[in-house]
Amino acid sequence: SLMKLLLLVGLFLSCCSSTEQHAAGPCTNDATQKNDYTNFQLRHLAPAERNDSVAWWRDYMKNNELCGRIDQQTFIHSTIDVVNKICSRDGGYLWKNNLCISKAKFTVTVVTSPKHDNECMNITVEQRDFIYVAVKCENVKLNKDVKCVPVHFHEMLKKLPNTKMNGCVK
Ligand SMILES: *[C@@H]1O[C@H](CO)[C@@H](O)[C@H](O)[C@H]1NC(C)=O
Ligand SMILES: *[C@@H]1O[C@H](CO)[C@@H](O)[C@H](O)[C@H]1NC(C)=O
Repeated sequence: SLMKLLLLVGLFLSCCSSTEQHAAGPCTNDATQKNDYTNFQLRHLAPAERNDSVAWWRDYMKNNELCGRIDQQTFIHSTIDVVNKICSRDGGYLWKNNLCISKAKFTVTVVTSPKHDNECMNITVEQRDFIYVAVKCENVKLNKDVKCVPVHFHEMLKKLPNTKMNGCVK
């Protein structure tokens, strides 16, 4: 049946995909240094107050040395406290491996520019409203505390997957 086929495909993907390191779940690994968390914030978090002009984004990208990093960059308009909640039981759904999907919808800006366009000469800017975001959640050592936080932006989703999902972490 279709269900069985989907299940098999799912099993195959979860066991053999090499793009994501296999993980028992979000925040099950030992704490890592906060580098990935810092990079996540720099690369994927933008002011909650939006300015949609290309000029604003060119300045923003330049000031944060993000021009030319990759062809397409994705920014969540929110605050770090809100985005951190994706990696919690109440703020996120457990999706697969160590990925969690936000329960809340966000506004996201997608900035496209050629790789190595280090001056952001040819950027285009596009807004996506009411979108769920999937992030990788890992334990990170922050000062003395270990916190379960986002360390990688995985993708945007227009709809939640059509299954019952548990909270990101127990
Ligand atoms: C948006 O940014 C541009 C360029 O920095 C600026 O000229 C403009 O005043 C800003 N608009 C708002 C509404 O803040
Ligand atoms: C920007 O676009 C122009 C016109 O399409 C092109 O000639 C130029 O090489 C591009 N610059 C970069 C840095 O990609």
